[in-house]
Amino acid sequence: MGLSQEKYHRAKRIIPGGTQLLSKRPEMFLPDLWPAYYEKAKGCYIWDLDGNRYLDMSYMGIGAAILGYADDDVDSAVKAAVDKGGMTTLNAPEEVELAELLIELHPWAEMARYARTGGEAMAIAVRIARAATGKDKVLFCGYHGWHDWYLAANLESEGSLDGHLLPGLSPLGVPRGLAGTSIPFNYNNTDEFLQIIAKHKGSVGTVVMESIRNHYPDQEFIETIRRVTEELGIVLIFDEITAGWRLNLGGAHLNFNVNPDLAVFGKGMSNGYPMAAIIGRKKVMQKAQDTFISSTYWTERLGPVAALATIEKMRKNNVSRRLIEAGEKVKAGWAAAAERNGLKIEVSGIAPLGHFSFNYPNQIAAKTLFTQIMLEKGFLATTAFYASYAHTDGQIAEYLAAVDQAFALIGKALENNSVEKQLKGPLSHTGFKRLT
Ligand SMILES: Cc1ncc(COP(=O)(O)O)c(C=O)c1O
Repeated sequence: MGLSQEKYHRAKRIIPGGTQLLSKRPEMFLPDLWPAYYEKAKGCYIWDLDGNRYLDMSYMGIGAAILGYADDDVDSAVKAAVDKGGMTTLNAPEEVELAELLIELHPWAEMARYARTGGEAMAIAVRIARAATGKDKVLFCGYHGWHDWYLAANLESEGSLDGHLLPGLSPLGVPRGLAGTSIPFNYNNTDEFLQIIAKHKGSVGTVVMESIRNHYPDQEFIETIRRVTEELGIVLIFDEITAGWRLNLGGAHLNFNVNPDLAVFGKGMSNGYPMAAIIGRKKVMQKAQDTFISSTYWTERLGPVAALATIEKMRKNNVSRRLIEAGEKVKAGWAAAAERNGLKIEVSGIAPLGHFSFNYPNQIAAKTLFTQIMLEKGFLATTAFYASYAHTDGQIAEYLAAVDQAFALIGKALENNSVEKQLKGPLSHTGFKRLT
């Protein structure tokens, strides 16, 4: 057992759930074998505690490292801010510059507030929306974090949040009084949305969704949502925490000519330094003054400095164009490798956030075997690829050559029913699961 796994065993005894983010649990990739901790990272490479170097062809900091790890431009801006003091009794001037920049990039928005993580920024947006409308009910689609307003959906029916990215999220500890306040709808299903709205019309004040995630929106769907919310005085919130900055410079909604009342950014906006922003129309954003939303570390300096440097670099280098190109190469490479090796897979997702699944009854075993084989070849890999600006064509080619070999082995294993036998540890987890 390597130092990483040994440390993870210790962690599970004293840190409930082992990690702070479900998507970073080693069990989500390769139980007992995934190198849980890193010593250092640069570009797309990560070194584990045993000194092994891996090429990260998986989630790149779960979508946060959009430019790559330890980006020189962002890090030098952050280091300069560290030297000048990251936290004082006075405020960081970069907050104002960042607000001006976000408003410039999203001309429909007039004001900005900040937080440091995606989930809390979403909770702020929902609080502002509820303050603005005086109505409790939220209709939502997709995943939006861990807070009570969101998990309340699972108080109604255990499976409400299934299909919204992470299955099985438990609402234990969420006040039962919130039951019925968060109601899910499915992406691109206009009729269902209209039915739910009709049923709850008078009490819905907020609609929350990602403008895009796995599929492009039907224009009719997204335009209907905008029209109906406008007619009923409902605040429309676009969650751009993961999709934002990947298809263009800013929220993905800019591509669809539909503007929300509030939009929320996090993750990729600051290349790994904690930062999140809520931007919106003045009429709604002003309500943040009438309810109490305030936190000490939302005032530290490194987040806004990192965001300004990251956005500047993305603008200068047209980063989204490269993310789309790299993602398309990988998606096409998966499909071609599957075809060559007679494997049935389904490739989906927008180009910079592509993924695939094995079309077999034992698809989780096949996925686990894929990660196992790729890890042995020096790649952090799963059935998804989040493109970063640091991924080179050479690295993508190297990865796809390894994928081809892995698919050949998996194809043979599926043929002779030996997938499970070849696994050196348990199956990967697929959603929320208590650890022991
Ligand atoms: C669309 C979306 N919203 C919200 C969140 C929550 O953000 P965080 O994990 O920073 O709290 C995520 C994280 O994966 C996300 O993808």
